[in-house]
Amino acid sequence: MITLKNFTVKAGEKIILKNINYAFEKNKVYCLMGPNGSGKSTFAYAISGHPGYELDEKSKIYFEKQDITDLSSDKRAKKGIFLSFQTPLSLNGVNVFQLLRLALSGTKDPLKIKKEIEIFAKKLNIKKELIERSLNDGASGGEKKKLEMLQAAIINPKFLILDEVDTGVDVDALRSIGRFLDEFKKEKTIVLITHYSRILKYINPDKVLVIIDGKIQKEGTKELVKEIEDKGYGKTS
Ligand SMILES: Nc1ncnc2c1ncn2[C@@H]1O[C@H](COP(=O)(O)OP(=O)(O)OP(=O)(O)O)[C@@H](O)[C@H]1O
Ligand SMILES: [Mg+2]
Repeated sequence: MITLKNFTVKAGEKIILKNINYAFEKNKVYCLMGPNGSGKSTFAYAISGHPGYELDEKSKIYFEKQDITDLSSDKRAKKGIFLSFQTPLSLNGVNVFQLLRLALSGTKDPLKIKKEIEIFAKKLNIKKELIERSLNDGASGGEKKKLEMLQAAIINPKFLILDEVDTGVDVDALRSIGRFLDEFKKEKTIVLITHYSRILKYINPDKVLVIIDGKIQKEGTKELVKEIEDKGYGKTS
């Protein structure tokens, strides 16, 4: 699905990710963990093509075997790469329907978008009033995360990186998001960036990866998450 070769990423003058080689497979759920500042969000931004992050000249990103290293973020999005932000942005004067209609122009009928917004908002327990407002305008932290999931549901991407979608959400919102993702994961690759095991009650990861100091230092199963929660990053074997 997505293969990273010699993936080295700089932000400003600082090298953040160091020579990562990894292949994400189709139909799998990955859990990506690591200490604060280890490079998880940078990893997400660099894969989605954020212009603020510079790749080293030897770095390559392949999507379904096609080299996408030089593609812009919107072209990557059109191919099916979706990033849910750790801190979702607000858009003044544009509601979620207007944004999705623009993003999906020519690929999905606006009436279908409207209908799907209704269906998924119900599944995710998002209030109608929130959907009609400018995107994320005054929305609470948890509401923003649910709105990110709503956009993912309607865009229906092939590869999703969800950056701390479980942070700042209450137990009911966590359950809605977790159950939604578990249903939604078919035929997709999902990378869940998280600090905690609690979302894994609803969606089971096939692999757990740990980034420390800009490198994937550990790979394991769900047990590794428990070990990290018990012992921290310094003492996992
Ligand atoms: N544009 C930038 N310029 C300089 N340094 C940056 C930039 N973006 C990120 N960094 C630094 O890179 C490191 C990794 O940041 P990143 O946001 O990827 O961490 P993270 O693993 O997502 O952490 P957290 O768990 O706190 O979300 C941090 O030390 C951060 O300050
Ligand atoms: Mg982060």
